[in-house]
Amino acid sequence: MAPEESTETTRLLQSFERRFLAARALRSFPWQSLEEKLRDSGSELLLDILQKTVKHPLCTKHPPSVKYTRCFLSELIRKPSGDSVTLSESTAIISHGTTGLVTWNAALYLAEWAIENPVAFTHRTVLELGSGAGLTGLAICKMCRPRAYVFSDCHSRVLEQLRGNVLLNHISLEPDATTPVEHPGHDTHHSEIPRVTVAQLDWDTVTTPQLAAFQPDVVIAADVLYCPETVLSLVGVLQRLSACRKDEQAPAAYVAFTVRNPETCQLFTTEMGRVGISWEALPRHDQKLFPYEEHSETDILKLML
Ligand SMILES: C[S@@+](CC[C@H](N)C(=O)[O-])C[C@H]1O[C@@H](n2cnc3c(N)ncnc32)[C@H](O)[C@@H]1O
Repeated sequence: MAPEESTETTRLLQSFERRFLAARALRSFPWQSLEEKLRDSGSELLLDILQKTVKHPLCTKHPPSVKYTRCFLSELIRKPSGDSVTLSESTAIISHGTTGLVTWNAALYLAEWAIENPVAFTHRTVLELGSGAGLTGLAICKMCRPRAYVFSDCHSRVLEQLRGNVLLNHISLEPDATTPVEHPGHDTHHSEIPRVTVAQLDWDTVTTPQLAAFQPDVVIAADVLYCPETVLSLVGVLQRLSACRKDEQAPAAYVAFTVRNPETCQLFTTEMGRVGISWEALPRHDQKLFPYEEHSETDILKLML
């Protein structure tokens, strides 16, 4: 960045910071200058603005009203940065025999956590299990600069919709996550364009070598603990993933879920204990970026595979 450009960006960030900390009227913010800057800078600038405003240490300690924050974020998301996610999804919660054609709250909750913690994904290869409509992964691809992102699911209809949703967001799809890099923009460690693939992956049948071929640094899953059978399948695949070492390290894993039935969640942690996977619950975040009603508690567990 040229020195004058960097001074302009610093001024813009300061202007947002000061106005937000003083809870000034939203119309007084320099939205026009932001729109102009976003044409060249993209999501990084938005992340910097989040750090200077809603994630500012002072705001974390003494947050402004939820209404003010929500209006601010809505305005920020509306800016033409390409950082919106467009989805085609079903209106029924179960259709074609699957729950994967709609976005569930845990997917939104995990996407919010990812947007607030982009470093967990930046320059990493992310494998998502049970991606469904793809909201979480698309948000991560747009906001967290992963090196590669593998969406996966077992259901053919879900996979078809998922591929459509990736393309709808102007992200190009590579044919196979396990083949060598073809796109020249993807072969550097710090490429800004993630290598995105959609894989058919069934937790019940996928083998350790097949999982290892994805070379995941991070594994994520949202709303995949909805019945005892899926819990057992999921723990099986997590156990196989724990044997996938990259640079002698197993992948980091994050599982987000809505607590509908405490016994099912209990089964998950018990089964993980049985196969030697330890876990910790991440602190809850209250900064909602997406409009959704929470009827039940939603949590994220970080797993030590
Ligand atoms: C409730 S949906 C959640 C979708 C998305 N993650 C979300 O939160 O919006 C559960 C997803 O897990 C997938 N799934 C269930 N069992 C699976 C299995 N054995 N292997 C792979 N995917 C599975 C389903 O196809 C479905 O897309």
